[in-house]
Amino acid sequence: MKGGYDHFMQKEIHEQPSALVETMRGRIALEVEDCSEGDGSECTLERQGSLKLLDSLDLLKEDGGGAEPLWRGATPRVKLGGLEPHAENILRSRRLIFVACGTSYHACLAARQVVEELTRVPVALELASDLLDRQAPLYRDDTCFFVSQSGETADTLNALQYAKRRGSLCVGITNTVGSSISRETACGVHVNAGVEIGVASTKAYTCQILVIVMIALKLSEDSISKGKRRNEIMRDLLRLPSMMRRVLREEGVIKNLARELAQETSLLAFGRGYNYATALELALKVKELSYMHSEGILAGELKHGPLALIDETMPAVVVATNDALREKMWSTIQQLLARKGRLVLLVSKGDDDILNYFNGEENDGRARIITVDTVCDCLQPILNIVPFQLLSYHLTVLRGFNVDQPRNLAKSVTVE
Ligand code: UD1
Ligand code: F6R
Repeated sequence: MKGGYDHFMQKEIHEQPSALVETMRGRIALEVEDCSEGDGSECTLERQGSLKLLDSLDLLKEDGGGAEPLWRGATPRVKLGGLEPHAENILRSRRLIFVACGTSYHACLAARQVVEELTRVPVALELASDLLDRQAPLYRDDTCFFVSQSGETADTLNALQYAKRRGSLCVGITNTVGSSISRETACGVHVNAGVEIGVASTKAYTCQILVIVMIALKLSEDSISKGKRRNEIMRDLLRLPSMMRRVLREEGVIKNLARELAQETSLLAFGRGYNYATALELALKVKELSYMHSEGILAGELKHGPLALIDETMPAVVVATNDALREKMWSTIQQLLARKGRLVLLVSKGDDDILNYFNGEENDGRARIITVDTVCDCLQPILNIVPFQLLSYHLTVLRGFNVDQPRNLAKSVTVE
């Protein structure tokens, strides 16, 4: 049942390349130009009508260099059967509100910026319990997205009933077909990541981010001004599974890092922008599984308090992969170094400035460095969390705790 792995969590972490393929399967379409005229040299797809859905085989073949022939002469589109009839209504909403708990909430946080960017509709995030505690105002012209792996989380389900009573359009993003949230929402998207057994959510998280990005692409498909950006994201979607496979091959490096950190009592994690969610999700995984105190911190808040925690004994993870905020993250690294912090850095392959700095004589050994491929900024959190899922897994095994069934927790939280 564990397919040769020691635990379900490890299996589910390693299933992520194929889970991403399953999430995209039948949902990425290439609109092919009419090849019947001319010599057909621009059309590299078989002539099968105007829309070709990529199957999982096509997706697996995509790997950067191999991408071009498939794409030439074709316009990529996202097809989300459940959402199509409601897309116009959703776009007319005054606000898009994402409601979830725990890891599912982090998936919403990771994808928020791209939804705002592509739809230009204000996006709010709500922890389901907090929305209910505040009895927050919701209106008929709001669209609420309820994001849940199990589709049975009591707080999220109660928030859904609350939103329904206020007349908002309720959309589900669930991994469980036939679940309460799937049934109770007006429409939605199944995540299709496959069954998740380990209590800690892993493959559902990365696939939830992917689904929300695909929803943003779907909702913005008529926007000419967003066309270039959309195409950029679409191309990188197909590169994700192979890039994810490359991250997973580095498990040995992460296991060594876990050995170095296994006796610590605390671990801080810094990120910002798309990767604030990565820092929060890393901290949640570490604390719920290894029972080590861990805190995810928005790097922009460093000087407003957390910096006081930094000294030569405090391990601090910094997510500093290449995007528009890379310079700001470099400045965070400098601040932490100045206080002699024990750094673990996640950086992009080929970021020679950072890599050379820490390979130089002066700073050799001052940071442990993990590298990942660079992908389109809004998809980067999907890759970036994987080394930290592995880190929390190995920390837990080394500390001798039950990885698949952490104390006091249940897979599906069906009571408030
Ligand atoms: C659907 C089929 C899939 C088939 C494909 C072919 C199902 C579950 N999925 O996938 O097997 O290969 O068509 O065209 O039969 N929904 C909600 N709330 C949610 C999630 C989904 O109401 O939280 C609704 C959707 O609006 C939709 C239906 O459930 O009406 C199925 O959703 P989804 O599986 O995402 O649709 P497709 O990807 O089109
Ligand atoms: C943490 C984890 C939880 C769930 C949360 C919501 O690893 O799995 O934080 O994400 O309980 O569950 P769902 O997504 O089923 O609504």
